[in-house]
Amino acid sequence: MKKITIAIDGFSSTGKSTLAKQLAKELEYVYVDTGAMYRAVALFAMQNQLIGPEFFDKTGLVDFLPKIQLEFKFNADLGFAEMYLNDENVEKQIRTIEVSSYASKVAEISEVRAKLVEQQKEMGKNKAIVMDGRDIGTVVFPNAELKIFMTASAETRAQRRFDELQEKGDAVSYEEVLKNVVERDYIDTHRADSPLVIADDAIEIDNSYLNREEQFSAVLELVNDVV
Ligand code: C5P
Repeated sequence: MKKITIAIDGFSSTGKSTLAKQLAKELEYVYVDTGAMYRAVALFAMQNQLIGPEFFDKTGLVDFLPKIQLEFKFNADLGFAEMYLNDENVEKQIRTIEVSSYASKVAEISEVRAKLVEQQKEMGKNKAIVMDGRDIGTVVFPNAELKIFMTASAETRAQRRFDELQEKGDAVSYEEVLKNVVERDYIDTHRADSPLVIADDAIEIDNSYLNREEQFSAVLELVNDVV
């Protein structure tokens, strides 16, 4: 069976990473969550007082970029790779709603995108990869053999994210999560560099009314058509 590149893009909280992880496991491919990389840069900016509710020192962040080292390390117990920022495991810290908001802000900076995209391209050079994000089928792997674009209504996505955060004991309200989802959609689709758009050759999946299993088998069929 030939090894291919699978690009999964779409709005936040559409279940991209769940699908990508399932696919990577089934196909024995590498899975890369590019959102984790933008989140780790946002965390770095927070830790270094470069971003906050009322300030964002973009130039400062760009100056610091050579000092930001991002790495995925596979955790065999969990069955997926975790994000390391300058050798520290930040997997838990990057999943808060605060980091989500700042991640969209740092993702607007072209220098940040250029650094991360270069690293992502390098990770995919041997194919056999499933990568999810916002610009994978358009910028990172425009020649990917399979491109999926995932959507669902903002309310459906906010409810899913809210349930996840509740499970983790995060004290946020549904309204706050919905606001965050809508704001991130706006920033992601309106930024000048690599806005979230559907690639011409991507297959769109609206999973508002699909459960995980239905979605997975639909995508697996698409994979089998290509390999
Ligand atoms: O996918 P996730 O929600 O973890 O991504 C966090 C943020 O990082 C997104 O809202 C988006 O602004 C940014 N991002 C991006 N390009 C990617 C992946 C994520 O701009 N390839």
